Amino acid sequence: GALFAAGAAHAEYPERPINMVVPFAAGGPTDNVARSLAEAMRPSLGQTVVVENKGGAGGTIGTTQVARAQPDGYSILLMHAGFSTAPSLYKNPGYDPFTSFEPVGLVVDVPMTIVARSDFPPNTIAELADYVKKNKDKVSLANAGIGAASHLCGTMLVEALGVQLLTIPYKGTAPAMNDLLGKQVDLMCDQTTNTTQQIEGGKVKAYAVTSLKRVPTLPKLPTMDESGYKGFEVGIWHGMWVPKGTPKPVVDKLVKSLQAGLADPKFQERMKQLGATVLTSEANPDALTAKVKQQVPQWAELFKKAGIEKQ
Ligand code: MLT
Repeated sequence: GALFAAGAAHAEYPERPINMVVPFAAGGPTDNVARSLAEAMRPSLGQTVVVENKGGAGGTIGTTQVARAQPDGYSILLMHAGFSTAPSLYKNPGYDPFTSFEPVGLVVDVPMTIVARSDFPPNTIAELADYVKKNKDKVSLANAGIGAASHLCGTMLVEALGVQLLTIPYKGTAPAMNDLLGKQVDLMCDQTTNTTQQIEGGKVKAYAVTSLKRVPTLPKLPTMDESGYKGFEVGIWHGMWVPKGTPKPVVDKLVKSLQAGLADPKFQERMKQLGATVLTSEANPDALTAKVKQQVPQWAELFKKAGIEKQ
């Protein structure tokens, strides 16, 4: 009895399902990546990875939830570039990107698209620039809250067009996309992991992609750079983290499982369809640490230039 009980106490991680927090609404870009990855990591973990959507405040609410969770490997975070913007956008983001987490690794990199409701008058990015100048206060721009990818790209778009737009925040770009499809909002800058199907199906109007090269799955869409906005580039990297203090063997197991997940042909095929690049060689803690170190000051600089203050 006692011997077996002691043995059971040292059973290998994971012994039960793992919670993967997505800090945005279900059915959106981050959720699409997370659910495919959760499935792809299951065989190597021998446990189910359950996705929990915890949206709000540009992703800071869900991210903070994981920062405060037990460091036992049963709470993991799947977040994107917005992870590194919160400290320069919020007085109290709820977490510190350098000290609140143990990094697991980078996951994917996703380009963005500038899209509009299907009956929005402008047909090209040049027409859009002209239209927003003439209709200043009437044009609405959806985003997923301050610090979300759609907000970052939207901020760059507003800067590029030189016109303020009326921004409407959502808990993720899935509900924002619903309103775009329902023609309740005009414009959005959103990741291809949410927009590809709607663009291909002609459900939304698309103007441009935000990568420097065209996206193979959306070959007809010009880049912002080639449309006259030289150097306009935003790519949304995604990473995985666990709370600070998670034991090293647990982190190691997650790193191995992440790498196995990224190597899964089904995961790779799905990401390719959605225009995402799988970051196979950067799926490790060192690469993610380096990314965050480089990104935090870079975004801080951009917000400073754009005159955006902490709220
Ligand atoms: C989402 O999953 O809803 C998005 O990643 C939101 C965003 O950051 O724009």
